[in-house]
Amino acid sequence: MTSTFDFTLNGQRVQVENISPNTTLLEYLRANKLTGTKEGCAEGDCGACSVAMVEQNSNGKNCFRAINSCLVPLPLLAGRNVVTVEGVANGELHATQRAMVENFGSQCGYCTPGMLLTAQELLADGNTPSREEIREHISGNYCRCTGYHAIVDA
Ligand code: FES
Ligand code: FES
Repeated sequence: MTSTFDFTLNGQRVQVENISPNTTLLEYLRANKLTGTKEGCAEGDCGACSVAMVEQNSNGKNCFRAINSCLVPLPLLAGRNVVTVEGVANGELHATQRAMVENFGSQCGYCTPGMLLTAQELLADGNTPSREEIREHISGNYCRCTGYHAIVDA
């Protein structure tokens, strides 16, 4: 059995045809050259595959919800709106990307795209979270080399 549907990906409507319902969003992204989104554990533990789904908050404003793309069957995204790390910059680094660079928040970079999307969920609407809130929010995103101090600084 295969599925055909469309969804919005980084602002573009994309049509998905004849895809197995078992295909995950992560598999689809990487097969379509959006390789900024990384595969780590492929079972929802590490956060390397985090992307954002655009939803509306209780005030009707658009907001980001970070999701683990390795756990999401692609057909569940029919009609939804997804942003990956390739979609956050608009010709120049997004403020969260610049902050990562300036605060040395990335060494190998493997966790960085997922970390950025998770951070944007928290920082939307001009939120100014405490260090503790930041630590808690990114607790599902593992970094094996930089250490969290520089990431929280960023
Ligand atoms: Fe580890 Fe998805 S690859 S949570
Ligand atoms: Fe290497 Fe985080 S920068 S895992």
